[in-house]
Amino acid sequence: MLEQVEALMRKHIESIGDSKSLELYEKVPKGKRLRAKLILRIAGQTQEAIELASVVELIHAASLLHDDVIDEADTRRGVTSINHAFGNMTAIMLGDILYSKGFTKLTYLPTEVARKVANSVTKLSVGELLDVELANAFNPNQDIYFDMIYKKTASLIEASAFSAAFLAGKDTKKYALYGKNLGLAFQVIDDVLDITSSSEVLGKPALNDFREGKTTLPYLYMYEKLDVKDREKLLSYFGKDLNKNDSNWIKSKFNETGAVKKSIEYAQKLGHEALDAIKDENVPQLEKIIKEMIERDF
Ligand code: FPP
Ligand code: MG
Repeated sequence: MLEQVEALMRKHIESIGDSKSLELYEKVPKGKRLRAKLILRIAGQTQEAIELASVVELIHAASLLHDDVIDEADTRRGVTSINHAFGNMTAIMLGDILYSKGFTKLTYLPTEVARKVANSVTKLSVGELLDVELANAFNPNQDIYFDMIYKKTASLIEASAFSAAFLAGKDTKKYALYGKNLGLAFQVIDDVLDITSSSEVLGKPALNDFREGKTTLPYLYMYEKLDVKDREKLLSYFGKDLNKNDSNWIKSKFNETGAVKKSIEYAQKLGHEALDAIKDENVPQLEKIIKEMIERDF
């Protein structure tokens, strides 16, 4: 069901009439298309829903192109990232092309949808800015972490669910809440996988987030449980390249404190809250999305 979305995204880029843009676009790794799946499962496979899905996925792809520049990432989904292969300028401009094309196509959708999606992209950008600022020092505050992941990740998923419900004449409030909790759970699992997955599966070094200065939920839970001496030791690793001994120490503390397990349980709780929001809607296929997302390994 995603082929039509994929084809439409390509058509949008093709319609620009610039062979270089299309050539580069084809090198962007495709990803899981979670947002498109969500939209089609809520709204059904109507032409409007496919249009919305293509817009949201173009915007999401653009945001990752910029994110890889910001994070100086060499890879995306295990393959060379656009910034690494072609330089930051190309990655930023390709992001701008995808982003502005997505917004042009967004203007053909109902105003309520256009506003919601456009507004979520502002939140996305504020969230990314917050993420960058937070990397300056270890952040022990859970509220700040959740505010940042809401904006950076959950807001576009929330807007996708709202918009799909709007197109289908469903209860937008319930679906928006489903989307928000799904988005939060998704980011928590992403943060867990940075710790539990092998670098081969992730396509980036293990414990990369902490090296990049990101204090994610498992680190927050671990920090809570450590004594003063171990807290100091953990802080000394913040934002640094870790050797095998350092990584092993951090991993052993994750085990001792149960911080990874607690994070997974929290993601599951968010998953249940998402399902609770739409419990009267009779949509078993949305339960599957939550399961797939929480049980994934990359
Ligand atoms: C990935 O985070 C980043 C995002 C989900 C949002 C990025 C948003 C922007 C760059 C601003 C919006 C820009 C445009 C053009 C719409 P991560 O680094 O934690 O995840 P990763 O491991 O997948 O890189
Ligand atoms: Mg990144």
